[in-house]
Amino acid sequence: QVSWKLADHPTLPKGKTLALIVLDGWGEYKPDEYNCIHVAQTPTMDSLKQGAPEKWRLIRAHGKAVGLPTEDDMGNSEVGHNALGAGRIFAQGAKLVDIALASGKIYEGEGFKYISECFEKGTLHLIGLLSDGGVHSRLDQLQLLLKGASERGAKRIRVHILTDGRDVLDGSSVGFVETLESDLAKLRENGVDARIASGGGRMYVTMDRYENDWDVVKRGWDAQVRGEAPHKFANAVEAVKKLRENANDQYLPPFVIVDENEKAVGPIEDGDAVVTFNFRADRMVMLAKALEHQDFDKFDRVKVPKIRYAGMLQYDGELKLPGHYLVSPPEIDRTSGEYLVHNGVRTFACSETVKFGHVTFFWNGNRSGYFNPEMEEYVEIPSDVGITFNVKPKMKALEIGEKARDAILSRKFDQVRVNIPNGDMVGHTGDIQATVVACKAADEAVKMIIDAIEQVGGIYVVTADHGNAEDMVKRNKSGQPLYDKSGKLQILTSHTCQPVPIAIGGPGLAAGVRFRNDVPDGGLANVAATVMNLHGYVAPNDYEPTLIEVVNN
Ligand code: 3PG
Ligand code: CO
Repeated sequence: QVSWKLADHPTLPKGKTLALIVLDGWGEYKPDEYNCIHVAQTPTMDSLKQGAPEKWRLIRAHGKAVGLPTEDDMGNSEVGHNALGAGRIFAQGAKLVDIALASGKIYEGEGFKYISECFEKGTLHLIGLLSDGGVHSRLDQLQLLLKGASERGAKRIRVHILTDGRDVLDGSSVGFVETLESDLAKLRENGVDARIASGGGRMYVTMDRYENDWDVVKRGWDAQVRGEAPHKFANAVEAVKKLRENANDQYLPPFVIVDENEKAVGPIEDGDAVVTFNFRADRMVMLAKALEHQDFDKFDRVKVPKIRYAGMLQYDGELKLPGHYLVSPPEIDRTSGEYLVHNGVRTFACSETVKFGHVTFFWNGNRSGYFNPEMEEYVEIPSDVGITFNVKPKMKALEIGEKARDAILSRKFDQVRVNIPNGDMVGHTGDIQATVVACKAADEAVKMIIDAIEQVGGIYVVTADHGNAEDMVKRNKSGQPLYDKSGKLQILTSHTCQPVPIAIGGPGLAAGVRFRNDVPDGGLANVAATVMNLHGYVAPNDYEPTLIEVVNN
């Protein structure tokens, strides 16, 4: 039985409107030409940084501070928003899968048992992101799973790959496919009929999120399930090399591998087992629905084979989707959002589609829906569909700013929470000029929200979930940009391991509130307790400590 009542903060008042702004992909890094935040005109964020030193600081947003396996793991939006919302650090999917594979427990669980009953007569299909990015999946986990499943009776295996180039360098897909091919060749030597069956770039095939564009999932379905795609190849290395002539890794068109009779080698059939091997939820939920829901109507699946399906993890705790999974997800309970709603804090959350679930679903511990619809309002602004965001780098920043402003001025809410996506979504395209425009637009949205806070006498908290736009090149250990063999600058499309800023302020901020200096290692998980304080409450005991203190002047 959870006791939801939070203790009153000894000095800080309740009832101040608080704007909680998360800039996606906005880290802190040395100023140079590849730091788009530095290059862009960002007067609002600059003034926060140059303002009172006790109201701006950096916090950790990668590695162990957000529950990832190692300090080399860059931050990402899932673990970042989980930490921001939950106020504690949970071992995340990446780590839980590592542990389950290392101990072998993954093969003892209900999920593996469920799918392994198909091994005798059917094929095991593995669908997921092929890279070592560690954000959605990891190659070494796939390799262990291939080995483990074949040792436990899988005789026919088909891998449906999604190429990355977003959490790893563009062009790295070729090497990952070669590695996988050599693993599968070894399995074949041992009598397992193991092959790559289909593929496509993650942003064009399968890995859409938050129902932005179901066509993406349909393209994958046609290749993976029906064995149909516009491009047919005899092997996957050749496929990726050829298709890269006209597209980058993220956007490769769908292809299927065919035999000498031009017949697809691995469509999904009745009696087969399917595992989606991504541990991260957002970009697997849509495929999981297509695989699992009887009454699915988002596109015409044409063929609906009777399969046994398991996710690497359960992706949505509220929807219990999928019903079968190999590893239990982190049990992110008692999030700050749930506490605050129980304590009467009326909440508004908003972003555009591509980040909407970040400030709602991830924020609330991978749980969809409201805690209490009477206390909460979540607004989604439709994202542009079918473009790469370097084409429209301003995205919907202004619209998000306006919605937040209106929510603040309405005085109907105590917390107005937004995610401003530009730095991240445009940063992932690797287009430096566009990312500069993106950062400026994000800064303007922040200004709009802070101006509204000034009007109502409220408080603002501005932070970010992880780095991205502050560093757009791959560097050596001493920070020098790296070039590839042909002398081309190696553009970094991925996130970074940099810390992120957090700033507090506004006319409603009580006198004497400042950042403590005894939590130097503070990270994203310390933000929830901080925000609870600013709403006039003390955080639960097991939350990471608040970043602020109140001193008498
Ligand atoms: C993506 O899914 O777009 C990237 O892999 C990670 O980006 P995000 O963590 O910022 O969503
Ligand atoms: Co990102």
